[in-house]
Amino acid sequence: MLMKTEKPFVLALIAVIGPQRELGANNNLLWHISEDLRHFKALTMGHTIIMGRKTFESLGKPLPGRKNVVLSRSGLSLEQALVQEKAQAEEQAEVFVVGGAEVYRQAMNLADRLYITHVQAPLPEGGADVFFPEIDPLVWQETARDDQPRGATFPYPFSFVTYERRPE
Ligand SMILES: NC(=O)c1ccc[n+]([C@@H]2O[C@H](COP(=O)([O-])OP(=O)(O)OC[C@H]3O[C@@H](n4cnc5c(N)ncnc54)[C@H](OP(=O)(O)O)[C@@H]3O)[C@@H](O)[C@H]2O)c1
Repeated sequence: MLMKTEKPFVLALIAVIGPQRELGANNNLLWHISEDLRHFKALTMGHTIIMGRKTFESLGKPLPGRKNVVLSRSGLSLEQALVQEKAQAEEQAEVFVVGGAEVYRQAMNLADRLYITHVQAPLPEGGADVFFPEIDPLVWQETARDDQPRGATFPYPFSFVTYERRPE
């Protein structure tokens, strides 16, 4: 198991979640919020993004302008991906874990920072089948928040929140 201190970079998880930490259904996102896609792009552009094979399939293609690292049990593990980044990343560069649920669960204990878009909207019919891990307030401190009453075409409130791991 890789220790946090072995990483020369900041490991950030980025996700958009519902009120009960809902992440997706049927290998798709639950909502499409253009402001959130812009936010995701602005943060991740030029950086490495690490994702599970199912999330990669759901995207359908690599995201441009970023190094896309796809995890699969028949390929790269999370540990191998992080060792590879350690060898290549510049000091204090941000490396992003972009999902999905299975990969967030494994990366949560290694992460330094979380970028969470909290969405207060009804779920699509059928609800969610994957969830983000619990964000324990004893572990994670909210350091930035931007509340939006609605998007240009999305009629519900959402908030861009940054959490940093509290010092041990
Ligand atoms: N709301 C959001 O921000 C957000 C972001 C991303 C994704 N999502 C949603 O999340 C869902 C997908 O999540 P998911 O949990 O089903 O799948 P996932 O985490 O995207 O991918 C799971 C796959 O990743 C590979 N994997 C996971 N851990 C690994 C490890 N330690 N070593 C090697 N390979 C590993 C395995 O691939 P193999 O089976 O090939 O071995 C596994 O089946 C979709 O609904 C998607 O839309 C939501």
